[in-house]
Amino acid sequence: MNGRTILRLGSLKEVARFQEHVRSLQLNIPCDSEIVRCAESPLRQPLLRAEIKIGNRIAVHPMEGWDGTADGNPSEHTIRRWKRFGRSGAKLIWGGEAVAVTHEGRANPNQLVIAEHTRGGLECLRKVLVEEHRRTTGSEEGLFIGLQLTHSGRFCRPNAHDKPEPRILYHHPILDRRLGLTRDYPILTDGEIGAIIEDFHRAAKMAQELGFDFVDIKHCHGYLGHEFLSAHTREGKYGGSFENRTRFLREVVQGIRLMVPGIHVGVRFSAFDTVPFRPDPALSVNGKLGPGIPESQDNLIPYRWGFGVKQSDPTQMDLTETMQFVSLLEELGIRLVNVTAGSPYYNPHIQRPALYPPSDGYQPPEDPLFGVAQHMNVTRELKRRFPNLIFVATAYSYLQDFLPHVAQAAVREGWTDLAGLGRMVLTYPEILWDATEGNEVQHKRICRTFSDCTTAPRKGLPSGCYPLDSYYKSSALAEQLKVAKAER
Ligand SMILES: Cc1cc2nc3c(=O)[nH]c(=O)nc-3n(C[C@H](O)[C@H](O)[C@H](O)COP(=O)(O)O)c2cc1C
Ligand code: SF4
Repeated sequence: MNGRTILRLGSLKEVARFQEHVRSLQLNIPCDSEIVRCAESPLRQPLLRAEIKIGNRIAVHPMEGWDGTADGNPSEHTIRRWKRFGRSGAKLIWGGEAVAVTHEGRANPNQLVIAEHTRGGLECLRKVLVEEHRRTTGSEEGLFIGLQLTHSGRFCRPNAHDKPEPRILYHHPILDRRLGLTRDYPILTDGEIGAIIEDFHRAAKMAQELGFDFVDIKHCHGYLGHEFLSAHTREGKYGGSFENRTRFLREVVQGIRLMVPGIHVGVRFSAFDTVPFRPDPALSVNGKLGPGIPESQDNLIPYRWGFGVKQSDPTQMDLTETMQFVSLLEELGIRLVNVTAGSPYYNPHIQRPALYPPSDGYQPPEDPLFGVAQHMNVTRELKRRFPNLIFVATAYSYLQDFLPHVAQAAVREGWTDLAGLGRMVLTYPEILWDATEGNEVQHKRICRTFSDCTTAPRKGLPSGCYPLDSYYKSSALAEQLKVAKAER
């Protein structure tokens, strides 16, 4: 399948046509025909669970911009993005963006870092977000703001965007090859892991001092926390058994409870995965990427390098350990769970369903609505099994004009507690606020999943919506991106 055979959702003018299209694909995606306004809206209902109070059901996912300063402070681009997070009207700000707990753990040389010298910068981000939020909604009541704490592990690039400096937990037969890692490339020692855990404790303490309500101990997208979950082949206390593979999480959380009582802890995790994908070489012609196909798993079965995948066929998900993991979160007193999947580095069609691939991706191997439905159905199942936890759902941006209808139905029917916005927040942060306020939804501002916000950082440029956001569209950066894309 390629982009030409996938029905463009932007061409559907009515919600009934979208519902019909979903049925024709035999997918299970709930979708309301009418949007309910203001206080009656399921998306405007407050959420009260134990001591957590969130003023509505709209969440902003962490959205990094690759636009911090070299020392890890926010730039004017970062401040603008956080203002827009505030303007969204969302009462749950899940993490803002990935903030590295140390310089070495940065995913790119412009990622924010949490340290003494960035205290003022991070405080300012929170402040501008709250001010803007108040302007949109009239009050900061029920606004719940977290900071996403990360170490980028295998995908560290702290010093230059074209200089990977992976910090790995084990040797991965496919990803090592992609990164050019030899068999003797060092793995992180247990002692180094202990030091990283302490970095998380220190970071959580500072987050609390800066006024953040919670920290997210990031366990998704192939970064360090996520890699622990698939460390089946690692020896020692952080690898092998489920208990060992979750020791990092437990030690981070135990330390936070001891040293930072009062701050809430959340976890964003990749609930399922698949093997790394690549463009089909037979169908990649004239510089155009072919549709994605899975890397060969010859001699790799049982597959021991994934989490949430079947060892006998790692192109299929297996939620057994996913359920065990969420059960552990509940035992640890963690109530906030953000469900995502896969990785932007090795299977972007799973992680962020899109019609157009990023420069290092591939054409969609299936209608992206399959990916959306997969995310939604997994979150629904988790919510059914763990009704006391607060779930945030992901991968809604591909729904485009019908995002409000689907988000409302999903919350109303209890598939999730909150609907999360990722890419849409870069183009049209207020979409759900407008829809539920009864304002006209501005279709020209809707994210069409062009993926330039991912391609730009791959080329060493700040992320942003180059095609639709006038701030980037008309900037010198847009010209640089055009040149960089042409050089592919
Ligand atoms: C430019 C960009 C930056 C992102 N930054 C982060 C991040 O810092 N942390 C994170 O957990 N996910 C990050 N994501 C993933 C999104 O939060 C979200 O999971 C993904 O885009 C799918 O949701 P959507 O369909 O609403 O876009 C990023 C995605 C994009 C496109
Ligand atoms: S570049 Fe803009 S339209 Fe494209 S995926 Fe990113 S946010 Fe959406």
